[in-house]
Amino acid sequence: MTTDDSHHDDASPDEDCRQSGAQWRESDSPLRADGGTEAEGADEATLDPWGSSTIADYRKLFEQFGIEEFDDLLPEVPNPHYLMRRGVIFGHRDYRPVADAMRTGDDFAALSGFMPTGDPHIGHKLVFDEIIWHQQQGGDAYALIADLEAHSARGLTWDEIDEHATNYVLSLLALGFDPEDGTLYRQSDNREVQDLAFELGAEANFSELQAIYDFDGETDVSHMQSVVTQMADILYPQLDEPKPTVIPVGPDQDPHMRLARDLAARMRYFGVTEAFASFEADAAERTLLRQAYDAREEYAEEPDRPRCGEAADWLRENRQAPGDALVSVTAKLDEAGKEPLRPRIRFLDRNATDGAFEALIEAIDGEKRVYDEHIDTFDLDHAEAEELAREVELDTGGYGFLPPSSIYHRFMTGLTGGKMSSSIPASHISLLDDPAEGYDKVKSATTGGRTTAEEQREKGGKADECPVYELYAYLLSGDDDEFATEVYEECVGGERLCGGCKEQAAELIEDFLEDHQEKREEWADKLDDLDIDLDSDRKRSGAD
Ligand code: TRP
Ligand code: SF4
Repeated sequence: MTTDDSHHDDASPDEDCRQSGAQWRESDSPLRADGGTEAEGADEATLDPWGSSTIADYRKLFEQFGIEEFDDLLPEVPNPHYLMRRGVIFGHRDYRPVADAMRTGDDFAALSGFMPTGDPHIGHKLVFDEIIWHQQQGGDAYALIADLEAHSARGLTWDEIDEHATNYVLSLLALGFDPEDGTLYRQSDNREVQDLAFELGAEANFSELQAIYDFDGETDVSHMQSVVTQMADILYPQLDEPKPTVIPVGPDQDPHMRLARDLAARMRYFGVTEAFASFEADAAERTLLRQAYDAREEYAEEPDRPRCGEAADWLRENRQAPGDALVSVTAKLDEAGKEPLRPRIRFLDRNATDGAFEALIEAIDGEKRVYDEHIDTFDLDHAEAEELAREVELDTGGYGFLPPSSIYHRFMTGLTGGKMSSSIPASHISLLDDPAEGYDKVKSATTGGRTTAEEQREKGGKADECPVYELYAYLLSGDDDEFATEVYEECVGGERLCGGCKEQAAELIEDFLEDHQEKREEWADKLDDLDIDLDSDRKRSGAD
């Protein structure tokens, strides 16, 4: 024991715990860790990676930003992590390919990064756990120290960065990251990442960064460089070969994800689309073309050779869809006149070298038509064409990136209410806190309890608004859903009072910190053997 307080000898307050059969997985379950949803002053309309990270309403993220609900995918995830089962991981972008790979045993990867701006705390533990879990499911796991970002966007000195970096790495290892099997690196030290960042930077321009991140004329160039570095971090696991890759992060990082997915697509040599005639068409026009093609029996003189001109007439008569697509597509069809309407798969030359374009022409079996900037094929389906495009790209020196996926976790509510913040020590539990200090912080935490014990017995506590309940759900219950459910039900049922509840949580935190710090020490002795250099030999320039 690192303390002479006598609190750990107290009798356990949960003698009368009853069992509960409630399931976390029911998506309408009330037993979701829902803290943080009512944070005051939270910004509803923007996600800012360098701003304050409270989210007023998680639903907005689905509606406004197109983040998908994790619950919808949960049944497809093999042995989902408890953070997934409990709705702490609430959203994702395109996680399905990762879940599929986990099921089929195909390669996949997980990567996240940490800005070493302070001590790692229990909020960071969520991300550590997510990386480690993916590693245990068979994925290639990566964790990086975002030292360039900390220096350029947050102004930390290299000495501060080195100290914090070591602390992040030790906690990650203590929580179970396997460094033999996984990759740890610092942004500043990874030459491949820097080279990739440079290539990706060629696909993005200032106006775009301005629109996404609100950069302006005052934004320094290194900060911009840290953005392209993060883009390279996100795609780094695919450098050897493309594979589904998940980036576990908080929703404040979503702007980075959107840009990374865009850049991954822009680097691709070929686009693959459906087409119906020799001319180019956008998505809305293609929908109309598909309708005209499907209705060919109705109007074509020779139904196996419906003419473009005939399709134009049919569309004008049968589709009054407002908007430009009808006007533009019928004009194109008229222009094509007697050309037959015929479905095909089209390869568009986006970013291909001449050699790659030639190689693709060679690689296509069956009927094909070659144009200046595209190739039409008639004997491939969409999936086969995608695969061929990637194969040729890889064979001719391209990256063939798959768009990276992400999963998003809720932010924990601070122990003092409001936001959990590194700069307010009482609001969070640092993984380096003395266990007795952790105990004390929990004991003084805000709760969702009622004013009097009597009222609490009568009405029950408000577990959904209680940071202490969040501790149980996000951390203290670990994999034990039954225990978390029990705490919840006892609380809302009025059987659990805050004094005892906090005592139990405080003891559990204390045990956790003790155990965690022991493991950190064990790793500290082995740090030198690891493949990551934790001392930067950079000149000590004052950051701005
Ligand atoms: N920007 C992240 C943060 O603020 C850190 C980071 C850098 C990162 N590179 C990354 C996160 C790649 C995920 C993936 O914490
Ligand atoms: Fe929170 Fe526990 Fe009190 Fe319920 S009993 S409000 S979970 S501290």
